[in-house]
Formats: sequence, C-alpha cells, structure tokens
Amino acid sequence: MGKRSVAGESGGCERMWLGIGSVKGGVGSTTAALELAYAATRRRVGRRHRRVAVIDLDPQAAATEAVEPASREVGVKDVFATRQQLSLRDVLVPTSWPRILIAPASRELANREVDLTPASMHVLREARDSEEIADLVDDVIIDIPRTGGRVAFSGLLATERFFVTAKATMWAFQGAEDMTYNALRVKGLGNDRLSVSGYIVSDYEESSASLRILNDMRARYGKLVCDPPIPRASLVPDALESYHTPCREFGDGDLSSVADRYQEIYDALLKRERETDGG
Ligand SMILES: Nc1ncnc2c1ncn2[C@@H]1O[C@H](COP(=O)(O)OP(=O)(O)OP(=O)(O)O)[C@@H](O)[C@H]1O
Ligand SMILES: [Mg+2]
Repeated sequence: MGKRSVAGESGGCERMWLGIGSVKGGVGSTTAALELAYAATRRRVGRRHRRVAVIDLDPQAAATEAVEPASREVGVKDVFATRQQLSLRDVLVPTSWPRILIAPASRELANREVDLTPASMHVLREARDSEEIADLVDDVIIDIPRTGGRVAFSGLLATERFFVTAKATMWAFQGAEDMTYNALRVKGLGNDRLSVSGYIVSDYEESSASLRILNDMRARYGKLVCDPPIPRASLVPDALESYHTPCREFGDGDLSSVADRYQEIYDALLKRERETDGG
C-alpha cells in the first residue's frame, strides 16, 4: 500500500514520502532528512539517479539553509496561504545539491500555525495522493518541526514512512514514545498510509548511560531501531551548517562513517519497499 511504480522503468521506481521528526529539539532530525535525501540521490531508477524533493516545514529553515535554494521568493508558506495559494509544484526550487529540489521554509511559516484551517492541513497529503509532483521527483522527504502544531500535523498527514529521531540522552525514550503516539494518532485522522519505518538514534557516543537508553529502545521497538546508531562526529555541523555540504562530500572522507550509516538506512528502506512491491 502507498507505493506507485512507474511502468516501463526497469529496477522499480517506488515513490516514497518520508517524514522525519521528533518531539524533542536538536536530536538530528534535519541532519537525517538531508542525509537521507542525499543518500537517495545516489541510487538509481533504471538508468538515471533518483530525484528528491525536501519539504522544509520548520520556520527555522535549517534544511533550506543547508541546500542553498536557487530562490526563496516562494516557499511552503505559500502552499499554506489562504490567499494567493500556490501548489507544492509551484514552490519547488533547485538547490546546490544535485537532484534535490526544496520547498523552502521561512520565518512566515510560524504565522501559518494559527491560519491553517483543517482543510489546508491536508494540502500536502492531497499533493501526495494526486501525484502532483510524481514527474519531478521519486522521493519526498519532509523535515517535520518539533513544535507539534498544525504545520507539523500537515507533514505527518502526508507521510507514508515515518522516522522518529532520538539522541541517547535522558528522556529520549519518552520522546520517542510521544512521537510514536502522535504519528499513530495521525494515521487514524486521515492518513492510513502512515507507518513508523524506523527509530534513528544519532550523535551517539558510547557510554554506559547512552547504551542503556539505546537498549531500552531496542527492547521496545525491536528491529525498527536503526542499528548501529549514527556515531557522533564533531564535524557534522561544519559540513551541513557551515559548508552546506552533505557528510559524504565533506573533507577527505572525514564523515564517511556518518554518511555510510544514513546510506544503509535509506538502502534498507528502499529494499523493503521493493520487496513489498513484489520485486
Ligand atoms: N552524528 C552527529 N554528530 C555530531 N553532531 C551532530 C550529529 N548529527 C547532528 N549533529 C548536530 O547536532 C545539532 C542538531 O542536529 P539537527 O539540527 O539535525 O537536529 P534537529 O532535531 O533538526 O534540531 P531542531 O530541533 O533545531 O530542528 C546540529 O548542530 C547538527 O549538526
Ligand atoms: Mg531541525
């Protein structure tokens, strides 16, 4: 369910709408969204590489900053606008990351929280269901803000494969539980395609305390915990925030251990998707 293959393209062309989020801040959601997007573009559909749209729902716009959009004149705020509303298609712009388009976030997105009507909360889901951007991209990756408000809700409504992010520190387990609860609630409120595809523990440094938290998550969520966790690497902020470059492309392979883990997570997801799709 929730997969549409494009006939005539060898190797399968599963279209995936991924959402990444957490109820806690600073736990690696944006990093995961961007690294998974980059990982997707290294894979192929037939003879060409996959193409990705990132939808940045966070008014802080960290994902938007990182990929350097060609323009910020339009953005997600216009998709949610009550007047002069634009379609998702109209706000996707090229970025400096090859094969990645972005629907840019901006500060105005915060104002949309109060304006968003129940109907407009469904605009992204409708774009998914109508396959409005299916000719432009293969995967859509939504950076869902931790605010838990209407904008975040609209992202969850469009998500098919949801990744919960966590850091192995105090309250991580509770945070993952709360996020799972929210996501599954949305499933019953208009998005029956949503499932939790994984728990990504990032910025992980081995200690007895963090191992205990990780083990609690393994005991609770089993194989859904992406194992091993994403290691802590102090250069990750330099790559994405200062140099606006994915971990794979940064320095002299300094961050390949981080890039490899995100690639494995994406590849495992794509493999599962293809298996469920019957090859
Ligand atoms: N594996 C890692 N090793 C070291 N630092 C990391 C790692 N992953 C992410 N970070 C850093 O941790 C900080 C928070 O990450 P990120 O912005 O991805 O989290 P977030 O959950 O999206 O935060 P926010 O709540 O602000 O949206 C960033 O400075 C990021 O560069
Ligand atoms: Mg973020």
